[in-house]
Amino acid sequence: MKKIILCVLLASATLMATDTISVYKSGVLLAPDGEAIYKKECIQCHSADGKQTTFEGSSRVVYATINGLDSSSLAKDLKAYRFGSINKHGYGALMKSTLIDLSYEEIDALAEYITENIK
Ligand code: HEC
Repeated sequence: MKKIILCVLLASATLMATDTISVYKSGVLLAPDGEAIYKKECIQCHSADGKQTTFEGSSRVVYATINGLDSSSLAKDLKAYRFGSINKHGYGALMKSTLIDLSYEEIDALAEYITENIK
């Protein structure tokens, strides 16, 4: 009986250690970097100044500019796109597929970055 208890304890200690390693890969949990996220996830469709309104190579205006927006309404819209509850121009699914990989903390940092830097 004692051996079984010992085995269970050892197994759970190993599981906990593994979990800690995967969450804190570098030993430090870094705050989300809005600029890095914008450059990786958004710039190709919305451009560096946020004024792009067409798909690359097309002249048909599809979406609005995203420069100069207030961070709280921007964060709210981005979370709604992530959830799939808005679809302003018929391409909400495209936005959802981009945002689904971001946490709410990352979306907040991204919205702050856009408001502060993309005017
Ligand atoms: C593959 C191209 C693509 C990428 C990548 C992309 N978007 Fe979009 N974005 C769109 C399209 C298309 C729409 C219009 C969606 C709809 O129909 O509501 C849109 C809409 C928006 C809107 C609402 C604009 C409006 O018309 O009111 C915001 C804000 C926005 N995107 C921000 C972002 C941010 C921030 C990122 C990065 C996480 C991002 N987008 C990534 C294509 C993209």
